[in-house]
Amino acid sequence: MDVLRDLPEATVLREPSDLEPFRRDESHVQGPRPLAVVRPHGPAALRELVRRAKAEGFGLVPRGAGTGKAGGCVPTERSVVVDLSAWPGSLQVSAQDLSLQAPASASLRDVKAAAEAEGFFYPPDPNSWESCALGGTLATNAGGPNACKYGMTRNWVLAVEALLEDGEIHTFGIPSVKANAGPNLTQLLVGSEGIFGLILGATLRLMPKPREFTTLLLPTRHWADLLDLPGRLCAAGYLPSAFEFFDPAVLAELRAHGPEAARRLPGEALAILEFDDRGCGSETFLEGLLDLLGPLTEGLEMATDERQRQDIWAVRRLTSAFLKERHPRKVSEDIVVPRSRLKDFFQRLEQLDIPSVSYGHLGDGNLHVNLLAAGETAPEELERQLYDLFRLALDLGGTLSGEHGIGLAKREAFLALSHPGHIQVLRALKRAMDPCGIFNPGKVL
Ligand code: LAC
Ligand code: ZN
Repeated sequence: MDVLRDLPEATVLREPSDLEPFRRDESHVQGPRPLAVVRPHGPAALRELVRRAKAEGFGLVPRGAGTGKAGGCVPTERSVVVDLSAWPGSLQVSAQDLSLQAPASASLRDVKAAAEAEGFFYPPDPNSWESCALGGTLATNAGGPNACKYGMTRNWVLAVEALLEDGEIHTFGIPSVKANAGPNLTQLLVGSEGIFGLILGATLRLMPKPREFTTLLLPTRHWADLLDLPGRLCAAGYLPSAFEFFDPAVLAELRAHGPEAARRLPGEALAILEFDDRGCGSETFLEGLLDLLGPLTEGLEMATDERQRQDIWAVRRLTSAFLKERHPRKVSEDIVVPRSRLKDFFQRLEQLDIPSVSYGHLGDGNLHVNLLAAGETAPEELERQLYDLFRLALDLGGTLSGEHGIGLAKREAFLALSHPGHIQVLRALKRAMDPCGIFNPGKVL
């Protein structure tokens, strides 16, 4: 029986070879082949999908561009992938409201460009920003280097349109930062990884575009010297728009096997520090900053033009794909600790027997700890390593995911290590919003 026969306003893929690529995203997890992939073009398709999902007992798994890092869009048993890449809608900037309306199918690249074209800035910048879909960034509450100063995607969402379990599209929120009429359902949906409903579009918040940048490469011989810098900078009133790092192992690998630009990287460990405040190029600003950096100024390099700045960022941006290519079976984690605990974290990590390398977002304590040998490690031992890592992050007041989300990849650990009261509340919300369990089943909870 074809549960998707004559589905209106939709394209349906059924051929096994067409379905195969939809079994994975950019995480290490893989799911079964979905029953089908549906590309809805209009509300009738969604209404009918919800009706049939309830009647036939299949799940609806939302998918944007498939660049997620936690398996959130990977199918589970008996599910249909709802590929939102053909969902209609255009990008509309409202300069007066400092907002931008966009469908889930828009690429984040186009969203950022549309804002820039009018002199505005949409800060979220996950590493996949050039290829990911806006919908995926909303569903996962994507982060990125700029989160250090600007926060995550959710800080930039004023309103969302979402398909709920009644089969209808609802709008939550208004195009204003002031909206306080009851609990915020917009924010319940952002980052919910499709388990409460499917986000189809959003009204995003914009800000004036920063026009000045100070971008520094900060090499160091003793990499532990970098670890208290994020906290010291913040305490002194310097909030970087990005503060990224490579530990000695990642840096050595980039230098030995990376592209040309990576081979010239200095130091034993390296940080990229960027400011975008008005006046961040002034002497006063730089003097204050160099004072704070103290001995770390030795070997410091500063981008003197936009090209150099982009070259620095290009190396950072390719790191994840580079490591994946060299270690295809690696597991990449995404833990967070408060920036005041970074030093403790790395000291304690060393004692835990978790063979790993790290890079990522030092400025906000969001560390991509990579277990490069995961593919060659016995499953129980790998689980021991991951749980030890998660427990360490939790012990220090952090959490198991800073930006990638829970999805399938971290579901078991999330359920095992979270406070039971937290899971109970989430389950109650899930039952209330999705009583038939059709939305992204088997994810998060
Ligand atoms: C990065 C991705 C892995 O920061 O989040 O490179
Ligand atoms: Zn990241």
